[in-house]
Amino acid sequence: MGGSNRPESAGKMAKAVLGEESIELPIVVGTEGERAIDIGQLRNRTGYITLDDGYANTGSCKSAITFIDGERGILRYRGYPIEELAERSRFTEVAYLLIEGHLPTHEEEARFSRLLTENELLHEDMRFHFEGFPSTGHPMAILSSIINAQSCFYPELLLPDKQENFEIMAARLMSQVRTVAAYAYRKSRGLPFIYPNPDFKYSENLLHMMFSLPYKPYDLKEEVIKALDLIFLLHADHEQNCSTSTVRMVASSGANLFACVAAGVCALWGPLHGGANQAVLEMLNEIHRSGDDGSNFIEMVKDPANKQRLMGFGHRVYKNFDPRAKIIKAQSDRLLAALNLSDPLLDVAQRLEEKALSDPYFVDRKLYPNVDFYSGIMMRAIGIPVAMFTVMFAIGRMPGWIAHYKEILDSSKSRIDRPRQIYVGERERHYVPRDQR
Ligand code: ACO
Repeated sequence: MGGSNRPESAGKMAKAVLGEESIELPIVVGTEGERAIDIGQLRNRTGYITLDDGYANTGSCKSAITFIDGERGILRYRGYPIEELAERSRFTEVAYLLIEGHLPTHEEEARFSRLLTENELLHEDMRFHFEGFPSTGHPMAILSSIINAQSCFYPELLLPDKQENFEIMAARLMSQVRTVAAYAYRKSRGLPFIYPNPDFKYSENLLHMMFSLPYKPYDLKEEVIKALDLIFLLHADHEQNCSTSTVRMVASSGANLFACVAAGVCALWGPLHGGANQAVLEMLNEIHRSGDDGSNFIEMVKDPANKQRLMGFGHRVYKNFDPRAKIIKAQSDRLLAALNLSDPLLDVAQRLEEKALSDPYFVDRKLYPNVDFYSGIMMRAIGIPVAMFTVMFAIGRMPGWIAHYKEILDSSKSRIDRPRQIYVGERERHYVPRDQR
């Protein structure tokens, strides 16, 4: 369990009545007043477990990294409101904040920055791994494979009990995820790999590695760099979402950081999670191509017989506006204006949003645009291909995954994650030889 430092509500108890029996269970209160019933002794004392489909009511850990109040649309990293960080900070500073728990001083910032630069080159032998993938391979598959393979190249770092090893491993992951992402993209286009430039800052270096040509450096525009950096910052952590919970679960077994993060990338890939940004753009394209003004699509997603959803809408935790969506929409308007671009898909998105927000189906279910609804428009304006959208999310989420891994590593109370189940299969039966079945 992670190290939330403050109040456990001393003495307050909840009572569960199970038939004739009753049991008192401690109440735990977080620093923002969130309340939980600690059921740690429930099975031992009563034989019951709890059942919570999709974990919607289950706290899997205590964590001091990110606070979300989904009802009020609040998101804070280490206590700092996302709006303030988006306005005043930048991605690498936020990464430091998430991993180390405080904003860096000048010296800490310089050291972190130096570590990122010193660790930006992939092991040269890794280049050959890219040759083995088909050029049509999805970059998320390439990303998770290469990250996992990194543990073969740095066996000396896999003893995480050494603080120095952890720092280097974390810096390598943060820095090299860009290099891997850029190589995956270049491979898909049949372009030569471009090495990182140590003089560039984090987000500009990624743009350089993706889009420069050996004979023509990419024209790095300030507003594009800023927009990409903001996308990373807004995705940097989001407490116990599917991929972060995956990272934490794998970490609880004692697996190394590369293995844990590779598992997180796989979880992120799904269209109901990080893959939603790609799905949103595909949906907007489809609506635009069909000539629909959005009305038919909205009717279709409301039909319970139809599995299609309005991608980029709804969130397990936010039952009010996703604060990241507000920030990203404003930035995407600014970016399109600065680049003098107009995007017909933006018009489709705006029409869909308007219709959905005034439709009782969405209003009653508290379905609002999430961060992915507008992030795709912004990435498209930057020139990032749709297949790379979820990779951009993974780059942004890297500090969050690392911070959660570290929280487990630093905790003396950590146990392996091992949920239970209610078995609903066949009762005991006996083997029948094949000719008698
Ligand atoms: N379009 C249409 N209906 C929806 C949508 C949607 N996007 N989202 C939820 N609903 C409906 C469900 O059909 C359900 O209706 P019902 O009560 O009539 O059965 C109700 O709203 C509740 O939906 P759940 O699936 O129970 O909500 P849950 O909290 O499990 O799912 C999720 C959240 C996965 C984000 C969901 O809203 C969704 O699939 N959205 C589209 C995909 C997406 O944008 N994902 C990105 C999430 S943010 C992120 O990962 C960065």
